[in-house]
Amino acid sequence: MFPLKRNRRLRTNETIRSLVRETIISPNDFLVPLFVVEGQGIKEEIASMPNYFRYSLDLLELEVKALWELGLKSVLLFVKVPNHLKDNKGTEAINPDGLMQRAIKKIKDVCPEMLIMTDVALDPYSSYGHDGIVENGKIDNDFTVEILSEMSVSHAQAGADFVAPSDMMDGRILSIREALEDVGFTDTGIMSYSAKYASAFYGPFRDALDSAPVDAQDIPKDKKTYQMDYANRFEALRETEMDIDEGADIVMVKPGLCYLDIVRDLKNEVDVPIAVYQVSGEYAMLKAAAEKGWLDHDAVMIEQITAIKRAGADIIASYFAKDVVKLIS
Ligand code: PBG
Repeated sequence: MFPLKRNRRLRTNETIRSLVRETIISPNDFLVPLFVVEGQGIKEEIASMPNYFRYSLDLLELEVKALWELGLKSVLLFVKVPNHLKDNKGTEAINPDGLMQRAIKKIKDVCPEMLIMTDVALDPYSSYGHDGIVENGKIDNDFTVEILSEMSVSHAQAGADFVAPSDMMDGRILSIREALEDVGFTDTGIMSYSAKYASAFYGPFRDALDSAPVDAQDIPKDKKTYQMDYANRFEALRETEMDIDEGADIVMVKPGLCYLDIVRDLKNEVDVPIAVYQVSGEYAMLKAAAEKGWLDHDAVMIEQITAIKRAGADIIASYFAKDVVKLIS
């Protein structure tokens, strides 16, 4: 008895495979993270993120134009703040002439249609490397939320299209939404890092911004009192539904690959766009394995991005965005 139904018929050659392919990657899927530094003429490679760079504003201009040419039309901005400007109050975060605010203006200047999202959290500005204000050995939720709301308004005033709170404080989405409405920024969107896990995959990012929590007495050594426990699944739904109720336009799962079950759970439950952040450690792992000749870089890269989209991502924040788009075009 031979089988009448043969699934292999749909895999006979690339033409039929492409005809029945369910998941197609396009430049429109991507949000490109960009790291910005003070100075002139700086394009410095991040040691633990091969072929990924920090740019000073003059060279950021060229990079943004290059992204636009490739069809990459959305960026997610992060700044590396000089040590002497860091404190425990987020002072520099709300400086109207701060690096983030200048970066936003610069990009809107040279590429007005580029969609700009900005990271909203205090860690790059914090002398303790925490996303919030540290008070008596703890992260003060409500005080932090006030500063994050001011910071969001400051980014919107500089020209940001979306603010992206990545801090995981309670109640910040509502507070930010109200702050934006109060000053008339009704069109500024919020992409909430809603299910953000306390992950060891953020290591290279913290190298990039020199933003790791400091090792000192009375300073929490990790971010586990605000970022989620990676053992939890239902908590992600709770967090995400709350953020949507509070006014999030886009929600996010972070990191990516190890959390695709969460992405699928959310995709089945919520009806706002879902972003997935394939984080720095995921990037570094593949770069390292490829450098050793143990993995085929491009093949694994595309497989991973396709898997993220197949799981339910509507938007993918990825350090591979440029490489992927060059490969598929
Ligand atoms: C800041 C922030 C982090 C990342 C994005 N925004 C670091 C952290 O939470 O410690 C990580 C991104 C990456 O690893 O690529 N709150």
